[in-house]
Amino acid sequence: MAQSDTPTPLESRACGPLAGKVRVPGDKSISHRALILGALSVGETRISGLLEGEDVLNTAKSMRALGAKVERTAPFAWSVAGVGVGGFAQPAAPLDFGNSGTGCRLVMGAVAGCPIAAIFDGDASLRSRPMRRILDPLELMGARTSDIMEGGRLPLTLHGARYPVPLTYKTPVASAQIKSAVLLAGLSAPGITTVIEQEASRDHTELMLKHFGAEISSEKEGSHGRRITLNGEPELRGANVVVPADPSSAAFPIVAALIVEGSDVVFSDVMTNPLRTGLFTTLREMGASIEESDVRGDAGEPMAQLRVRASKLKGVEVPPERAPSMIDEYLVLAVAAAFAEGTTIMRGLQELRVKESDRLEATADMLRVNGVKVEVSGDDLIVEGHGHVPGGGLVATHMDHRIAMSALVMGCASDRPVKIDDTAFIATSFPDFIPMMRSLGADFS
Ligand code: S3P
Repeated sequence: MAQSDTPTPLESRACGPLAGKVRVPGDKSISHRALILGALSVGETRISGLLEGEDVLNTAKSMRALGAKVERTAPFAWSVAGVGVGGFAQPAAPLDFGNSGTGCRLVMGAVAGCPIAAIFDGDASLRSRPMRRILDPLELMGARTSDIMEGGRLPLTLHGARYPVPLTYKTPVASAQIKSAVLLAGLSAPGITTVIEQEASRDHTELMLKHFGAEISSEKEGSHGRRITLNGEPELRGANVVVPADPSSAAFPIVAALIVEGSDVVFSDVMTNPLRTGLFTTLREMGASIEESDVRGDAGEPMAQLRVRASKLKGVEVPPERAPSMIDEYLVLAVAAAFAEGTTIMRGLQELRVKESDRLEATADMLRVNGVKVEVSGDDLIVEGHGHVPGGGLVATHMDHRIAMSALVMGCASDRPVKIDDTAFIATSFPDFIPMMRSLGADFS
């Protein structure tokens, strides 16, 4: 687990122009799904470019514990020999997902469709996060829970359904984790499982299920939503998955390149699925120079090379309906907003309160201790940008990788250094963040 007994603080100081060409690690969402769908398939799945961060490694361990053969064949290359839909074996020990909500919630969906019982657990951050939103639909499909902590929290025991029933489910919040859990459980149910979402969330599960041979379709629902329909009991066949670079990880060095004067950085193979690129849209509206080239695609997932040059940014208003396409990026957007001229208003951020930390409050605190004027108003975040950030603050990372990386990015261009209390959780999603940033010219020590 990332949590260490002795925290490792780190300081980030203003640096010269960032320059170079990098490939950030594989996409976290796609990496989790490739392992899970590989384990639910018949035959071999070969994955290249897998994110070898702690969150994904915990999913790999859980797939092994549930009976799949999961092997690392070379750096970032993994092979999974699956057990087939509904074929998970009873795990001998609790499944520990560490810091990862995605791993935990998606595997809950997959286990819910198998006649086994599994104990789900995680670190203190994951133990504080709501699980009822996942368990409610899974119980409607026939799963049940026992030994669950108050408020529907981990640890808990999930008893999968012997005869799962297909479900039509309207998700209460735009959440790819809820949608994916229902679809993964629906794989074992005879008949059609439908998920309706008011706001479309990332569709990697749908795209990958199709790639593995499931019959699944998606149509528009209302102005921003989707209706996804899955035919149950498919025979999923092992497939090859190429994991593109994670736009949510690229977000950190991208914002660093925008705010450090004179920077010019190229990012290769960045996934550009439109349900993930709300940050790039917003940064461009703020005046960012982000040029796309070498546009390609694999298994329905588009990717491109991005060239990012330092830019004068201006404040903007970010509409609430954009939130699902950039839900993990508000922290680093708030950093960009602090360096912009003018006010940036980010609306509809209620989901940020139930991430690895309460990211709404944590983002506001991160900016405040570094001299930025910021306000949380209901579910909105309002940042006053003055073209520079005083810095000089110590940021509490709250077991949250994205707070740690956002604060270090802020320090790259602030008047005084920015310090974080612990780097440990960066390893959950971007293990090479510190050396990669140093290779571009960041001054971390
Ligand atoms: C993820 C979905 C998002 C996101 C998380 C990864 C996924 O959560 O915050 O980091 O891979 O499905 P929600 O869609 O549940 O908000």
